[in-house]
Amino acid sequence: MKLVFMTRVLKISETRPQAAKIRVAARAIRSGGLVVFPTETVYGIGCDAYNKKATAEIYRVKGRPPDNPLMIHVSDMEMARRVGRFPRRYEDAIGKLWPGPVAFVVDAQKGLGRKEVSMRMPDHKVALALIRASNTPIAAPSANISKKPSSTNADHALMYFDGKVDVIIDSGSSMKGIESTILDLRTFALQRPGALPVNELERAFGRRIRIGRASRGLAESKRAIAPGMKYRHYAPAMPLFLYTGKAEKLPRMVSGLKGIFAFIGSYESCRRMRKDAIVLGLGSRRDYDAIAHNLFDRLIELDRTGADFAIAESYGEEGLGLGIMNRLRKASNHRQFSNRRELDALLAGI
Ligand code: TXA
Ligand code: MG
Repeated sequence: MKLVFMTRVLKISETRPQAAKIRVAARAIRSGGLVVFPTETVYGIGCDAYNKKATAEIYRVKGRPPDNPLMIHVSDMEMARRVGRFPRRYEDAIGKLWPGPVAFVVDAQKGLGRKEVSMRMPDHKVALALIRASNTPIAAPSANISKKPSSTNADHALMYFDGKVDVIIDSGSSMKGIESTILDLRTFALQRPGALPVNELERAFGRRIRIGRASRGLAESKRAIAPGMKYRHYAPAMPLFLYTGKAEKLPRMVSGLKGIFAFIGSYESCRRMRKDAIVLGLGSRRDYDAIAHNLFDRLIELDRTGADFAIAESYGEEGLGLGIMNRLRKASNHRQFSNRRELDALLAGI
């Protein structure tokens, strides 16, 4: 008889997490299982950070390259200090930002088996309750198969991990929609732009933060420091091309293109798009919160449209725009165009 591994889906209220259901998920963590859980940024696939076997299992089910370390989630500062070394002088700033959508890379304490560690305290009642009830820090990358768009709801996670994890918690869609911002607290270099805008980090710490080309998604670093800095990331299965020119010029540029194409962009641009294009709206161009919130969901939806290829448009890199553009550059695998000639060249290559 073939044994079928069953994934248990637990609906847990985002505002008033039911303790009995949290205990079920925490038992799975304690016994070395994998639990998909919600955070305010994206869903995570988590396990006991000190359990080597469970950690290895996360790499296996995600198909994640072994040199890309997992982020550690904590529920309070005391737990954080047992995992990593936090300089006292930054405690006020960290206190202002945590819980919240920012992770810090610090030197690791002994016991974790690595030199440095990236950590965050999620601003989500279910995530915090799960970590507390598990009574251990939870190692959790985003809940997606390696290279695919991150899950922002339990349906996405079910598509990726049904039958491969013990529990999937369903608490609705993640508020932010893109992953946390990652700051190296030792160098104040940005490792990954994300759901916390850089200017808010600069305000909290009272100093400037270095934004390298790699963190904008423009260059690939040799070492896998943050997701996508080395590997292709967030990519739909169909070819996706990123338009970098003025939004108003796109509708005319795509006239007469052969094949079925999908367009993923702002509501304003969707309204101007060719009538026979499949349009996936992200939100108003003036509302980067909405654009970020919907981005991964629409990237996942792209593959269900049956289109031959897709086009996304660009955004300014102020505020959340930096994180949005980082995701779009990677999702398009740096295939960009600003005029019809460049688009034709890209299409000739598919
Ligand atoms: O919003 C988020 O950060 C989500 C949710 C689930 O919390 N998590 C997430 O995990 O995005 P992940 O693994 O997809 O991205 C975290 C990245 C890792 O890919 C890794 O590159 C970086 O953080 N990281 C982890 N440990 C690190 C370390 N010791 N030094 C430098 N970077 C590290
Ligand atoms: Mg990820």
